Amino acid sequence: MERLKQALDRARAERAQATPTETEQPASAGKRAREPSRSTPTQTRDVVYQQTRGIEIDPRRLRDRRIVTPSMRDPAEAAYKVLRTTVLQKMRANGWNTLGVTGARQGNGKTLTTINLAISLAREMNQTVLVADFDLCHPAVARYLLDEPIPGISDYLRGEKSISEILFNPGIERLVVLPGNEPMADSSEKLSSPLVRDLVGELKTRYPDRFVLFDLPPVLAGDDVMAFAPNVDAFLLVVEDGVTTKDDLRRAYETLGSSQLLGTVLNKAVGDHDTYAYS
Ligand SMILES: Nc1ncnc2c1ncn2[C@@H]1O[C@H](COP(=O)(O)OP(=O)(O)OP(=O)(O)O)[C@@H](O)[C@H]1O
Ligand SMILES: [Mg+2]
Repeated sequence: MERLKQALDRARAERAQATPTETEQPASAGKRAREPSRSTPTQTRDVVYQQTRGIEIDPRRLRDRRIVTPSMRDPAEAAYKVLRTTVLQKMRANGWNTLGVTGARQGNGKTLTTINLAISLAREMNQTVLVADFDLCHPAVARYLLDEPIPGISDYLRGEKSISEILFNPGIERLVVLPGNEPMADSSEKLSSPLVRDLVGELKTRYPDRFVLFDLPPVLAGDDVMAFAPNVDAFLLVVEDGVTTKDDLRRAYETLGSSQLLGTVLNKAVGDHDTYAYS
């Protein structure tokens, strides 16, 4: 706890010296990052930032992968705005800023929903958004955005990279990505470790106006989501139209518990103009 307190105090001191805009924009010169410490995944470690680097992403790539950016006209954009506003109102009403996105099973659309919701949230002028890939077994956020693998959370958890070396801005204002890299074994142990707890604590408290979205594994695929649950204020459950069964939905509700379930998103809705709906 003492180390966490020190890290938070240091982050506050750094924050007093640098405005959020300076640190969230692509890096130009910037402070030097401290060398990553070589500790085991269960130990705590200070989180040290430098300016976030920018990586330009081909808009065609985003369009091909159904990612809705501010610069393109896409019918799905309106649906994501409705989702964004509903999510924001509920989160703000509770004073929450961390949301885990999960689904019952693989392939329901968790990652795409996370990315598109994050982009839509970042368009709200009042806040910065961090999208973090905590699907440690099947990290996919970076693969949606980039051709080449880049350092990710697995490198941080192994003590080989600092968070500063991993975070990037994908050319969308106010959006920062904490990508995954290689799949990791013992994912639920890692997700419930003090190292992850401290990292999430730092990520969500660094800026008062920051919203953090976590791309998570399927809730029924193992105990990863339950292991990570203490780190998030609420969950969004992605339901795939015609695929997610009533039984899976019931089990997912039971597992998540009503107190942490913000709502469900109906994804890939059939026979409707919108492929997304929220309840
Ligand atoms: N609304 C949608 N309309 C059409 N295709 C979609 C939609 N949402 C997701 N998909 C497609 O479904 C596939 C799975 O999506 P995604 O990667 O988001 O799922 P996931 O739940 O994160 O999967 P995993 O469990 O493997 O992490 C992708 O090919 C994606 O493009
Ligand atoms: Mg995924």
